[in-house]
Amino acid sequence: MAESARIRHFKSLKGQRKIVCLTAYSAPVTHALDPHCDLLLVGDSVAMVVYGMDTTQGADLDMMIRHGQAVMRRRQEAVVIIDLPAGSFEDSPEQALASARRVLDETGADGVKLEGGSHMVAHVARLVESDIAVLAHIGLLPQKASSKSDFRITGRTAEEAKQLATDASVMCDVGVFGIVMEGIIAPVAASIAANCPVPSIGIGASPACDGQILVTEDILGLYDGFTPKFVEKFADLQTDISAAAAAFHKAVVNETFPLEQHLFWPKN
Ligand code: KIV
Repeated sequence: MAESARIRHFKSLKGQRKIVCLTAYSAPVTHALDPHCDLLLVGDSVAMVVYGMDTTQGADLDMMIRHGQAVMRRRQEAVVIIDLPAGSFEDSPEQALASARRVLDETGADGVKLEGGSHMVAHVARLVESDIAVLAHIGLLPQKASSKSDFRITGRTAEEAKQLATDASVMCDVGVFGIVMEGIIAPVAASIAANCPVPSIGIGASPACDGQILVTEDILGLYDGFTPKFVEKFADLQTDISAAAAAFHKAVVNETFPLEQHLFWPKN
C-alpha cells in the first residue's frame, strides 16, 4: 500500500510524543491551528457546531466537501482527514469507496474517517485496498445518535469491553492508519491503546492513548450547545465575541466609529 509522507510522519509519532488533533471547518481557523496540530479533522460535528443541528446526521457529502476545500486552502503541514457523513458509506463497500473518492478528489485531503467497528470492516478494507488512508472511529458513534440522550459512554460491561477490543483489532488488521476512540471508560481505552499498533487518538477515553482530539469550538468556548464532561475550555470566545459586539454597538451609537482613518476621500 502506498502511504503518503504526511501519513507516514503521523504514524511515526506514536511512541515519540503525544499526538495533537483538533477539528477544523474553515480557512481562518485552519490557518491558526495548523502550526500546532498533527492532524486536522473536518468532522461531521460541523453539522452541530456550525449549522446548529441537534446531531451529526444532518451532515452530507456536499457539506463535508465544501468545508474540506476551505480547510485545504490554508493547510500547511497537518494531516487533513474528512469524515464520511452518515448515509454516505454504510450500504456497501462500493458506496464507501465512491464517497471517499469523491471527497478526496474534490478536496485533495489526506484521507477519510468513518465511524464503526467490526460491522464496517469490509468497507474499510475496500478503501485501504484502493490506497485510501482511513482513520477508524470506535466507541461512542455520534452518527448513531438521533437525539442528545443517545450520546452514551461505552465499555462499562465485559461484553462491551470485549467488543471494543475486537473492533480496534479488526480495524488495525485491515490497515487503518489510526483509530479515534470516543467515549470509552478509561481502563478499557487504556488497554486497547496498549495493544494498538497504530496511533490511538482519544476523545473522552484515556491519557494512555497516543494522542487526543477535541472539537475546536469546544476548547475555544465557542459552541453554545451541550458541552460533554471530557471537554476542557482553553478560551472563552463566546464572551469575547459578545464583548466585541457590545463595544461595536456602543461605538456606532455614540458616533465614535467610523473615525477619520477609516474614511476615503477623492485623493486618498
Ligand atoms: O466529527 C467530529 O468532530 C469527530 C471528532 C469529535 C472525533 O468525529
